[in-house]
Amino acid sequence: MLTVAILAAGKGTRMASSMPKVLHKLSGKTLLQRVIDSCNKLNPDKIFIIVGHKSKEVEDSVIKNDNIHFIFQNPQKGTGHAVQVLSKQVKKHEGKLMVLNGDVPLIKSETLKKLIKYHDSKKADVSLVTTKKKNPYGYGRVFTKDNLIESIVEEKDCNKNQSLNLLINAGIYCFNWKSLSKIINNLKSNNKQKEIYLTDTISLMKNSYSFEVEDNKELQGINNRVQLSECEETIQTLIKEKHMIGGVTFINPASCTISEESIIGLDVIIEANTHIRGNSKISNNCKIGPNSFIKDTIVNENCEIINSTIFNSKIMDHVKIGPYSHIRPNCEISPKSKIGNFVEIKNSQLDEEVKVNHLSYIGDSKVGKYTNIGAGTITANFDGVKKYQTNIGKNSSIGANTVLIAPIHLGDSVTTGAGSVITKDSKNNSLAIARSKQVNIENWKKNKS
Ligand code: UD1
Ligand code: MG
Repeated sequence: MLTVAILAAGKGTRMASSMPKVLHKLSGKTLLQRVIDSCNKLNPDKIFIIVGHKSKEVEDSVIKNDNIHFIFQNPQKGTGHAVQVLSKQVKKHEGKLMVLNGDVPLIKSETLKKLIKYHDSKKADVSLVTTKKKNPYGYGRVFTKDNLIESIVEEKDCNKNQSLNLLINAGIYCFNWKSLSKIINNLKSNNKQKEIYLTDTISLMKNSYSFEVEDNKELQGINNRVQLSECEETIQTLIKEKHMIGGVTFINPASCTISEESIIGLDVIIEANTHIRGNSKISNNCKIGPNSFIKDTIVNENCEIINSTIFNSKIMDHVKIGPYSHIRPNCEISPKSKIGNFVEIKNSQLDEEVKVNHLSYIGDSKVGKYTNIGAGTITANFDGVKKYQTNIGKNSSIGANTVLIAPIHLGDSVTTGAGSVITKDSKNNSLAIARSKQVNIENWKKNKS
């Protein structure tokens, strides 16, 4: 039987934040959720999350399942105290209890599985994940003899000699729960921080083993925002390397960020300062960037997107977007269409080969095949209370600076005169023009003042 406890009650003072530390995000996912995701893969019988500081926010952030339970620790008197509170609230202390700090977000489930195997093979009271760090500052130092741990000394309690020890505690423990229950209430807070340390349980048990792991990036704990950014870089490097090996070119990878969920096809070229977020899919042979932000969007093959922002939309094959376009949620841009400079499109469907090349706002609209939207065209979709629809048929030519006052329906092959304010529907093949006639006053002289 495997029970998991994740410690997430602390404030995270060193983050200097109004938000609990475990709610800070790495590549879009909270630190806590990352630890939970790794633990879920072990199929434990139960996962207890110890919450305290801003507990409601922390609970609300978690993706729930039947195995997840919350334990309230208040006040927060240290990591050992957190496990004392858990032990009191859970009556049966059977099998293994794996305890993880909620601020070790890169831990892989494979490593946790290896820890369990190691723990079983040693019949240990506790097995602790350790690693050697070039700069161990901030971590508890682990002192061993033949892989058996004699003690852990926290940074603040180390003397000069002890602080030179490079073997550190990663904050991930596999306990024999029965052995732990016998000593958990014996912990004292006679240390510099006056806290009840979970690390003090180790020297109170006989068979305390060090399970040393080589890749210490995976074990990076996050106590401040420098470490947060280091972990972000670690994740991003892995994501981009995976895509490069899979056939994606990054011109300047360091300046780009890609979400873990995004899918990118073959021979896609990602130019500098491009960010692909959420659940996006970029298909083969696209060229994205420089300077583009794409979120929750599907981009089909052979598209070019430059200097543009796109949210939650579908872009079909051979579409060109940008520079400086903004595609807002719920747009569908059909094949071979072209969206150009300073164009904003929202909640609209554009059929094949539509052109909106310059300075337009198209909102809540449907535009038919081969239609050209002239520079400066605006769909006036909002009357101050409600939003209305604009329909434009195929093969139409909307003149420059046309304002289409929605709700409005223009048929196929309609032309509008430049500068028109169109308020009435137009049938197929008509010319709609609504502007005052030009008056020329000849030999007109300015008043002399
Ligand atoms: C802890 C370890 C240290 C180890 C390091 C690894 C202790 C005493 N020290 O130090 O040996 O090298 O992690 O990253 O355990 N928490 C609670 N309740 C509390 C206090 C903390 O749930 O009362 C939670 C925090 O929210 C956090 C985790 O426990 O997720 C660890 O606390 P933190 O203050 O970050 O411990 P470290 O100083 O990093
Ligand atoms: Mg920590």
